[in-house]
Amino acid sequence: MRIFSGIRPTNEIHIGNYLGAIKQWIELQEKNECVFSIVDLHAITTPYNPKQLQKDILNVLIIYLAAGIDADKSIIFVQSQVKEHAELAWLLSTITPMGELNRMTQFKEKSKEHKDYVNSGLFNYPVLMAADILLYKAEAVPVGKDQEQHVELARTIARRFNQKFQKTFSEPKALIPKEGAKIMSLVNPKKKMSKSDEPKSYISLFDNPEQIQKKIISAKTDSGKDIRYNITKKPGISNLLTIYSLLTKKPIPEIENQFKKKSYSEFKKSLSKITVDYLEPFRRKQKELLTREVYVQEILRQGQIRAQSIAQEIMQDVRGKMGLS
Ligand code: TYM
Repeated sequence: MRIFSGIRPTNEIHIGNYLGAIKQWIELQEKNECVFSIVDLHAITTPYNPKQLQKDILNVLIIYLAAGIDADKSIIFVQSQVKEHAELAWLLSTITPMGELNRMTQFKEKSKEHKDYVNSGLFNYPVLMAADILLYKAEAVPVGKDQEQHVELARTIARRFNQKFQKTFSEPKALIPKEGAKIMSLVNPKKKMSKSDEPKSYISLFDNPEQIQKKIISAKTDSGKDIRYNITKKPGISNLLTIYSLLTKKPIPEIENQFKKKSYSEFKKSLSKITVDYLEPFRRKQKELLTREVYVQEILRQGQIRAQSIAQEIMQDVRGKMGLS
């Protein structure tokens, strides 16, 4: 199977991005042809600092490598370095009704969040995402729950293209993990953990041990004392239990049992230690790779060449089918 996924290089990448998306990628790359992008063209649809963008791209690359993505097995590349993404997005936008884009939840949320930055790139964001996926004829897209609607739209666009022109694309399906598809904010556990919220609401993959401890200890918990999973009555503790379970590979009932007579603060202390240890390779790899500029740029150059060779061939086919030369 060919797999495609990506992450926007904006602010700090957090443990929700890791548990919802990247963690699945590591297993998938063993048996599939994987293409993982750093989607900078998506990142610029919300307010950003041009001087910071290249640093953010580098940080995403470091995260991919530290998490265990193997640049020999998988293709890792920067979206804007393969021009065909923008070209295909334009072509697909001509077969995408505005009504379909108007229904996208992320567009509605982001327009509310950045009221003076509602640009047409943000509106067309899902078409560019469909282009990313279809440009490689990817069949599966491992993402968190919030991206499911966009992958569904990519399916619709693929189907429409096949009907209108000739059969070209397979309809990609979203791969949503059973656990961790929606990690919640540490400040408000009824809201998704998000890069655009205040730093204490998420754990960045590069946070240092003190920051991690502080954030977990002050994470919002619920009334009562039991460490018990109950999404509606105990959203705070349930979210922390999910993170605990995913980082330790222990089933939630086993963790509940382990903390049966213990307090919230003992549970949080234990989760802090587990998280600090788990994220140690990210901090180490960041230190190491920031000094190896040539090596890092070479990974991206190789990725660009490999991605381009697939994209160019598919793009030529698409142009021909649409009557362009
Ligand atoms: P982005 O950069 O917002 O998020 C990257 C990935 O992290 C997942 N995610 C979460 N998972 C669990 N809990 C959370 N709180 C959480 N927050 C984010 C997202 O679902 C995503 O998988 N549009 C995409 C990037 C993209 C893309 C693509 C993805 C562009 N083109 C093509 C797949 C295929 C995005 O904004 O991701």
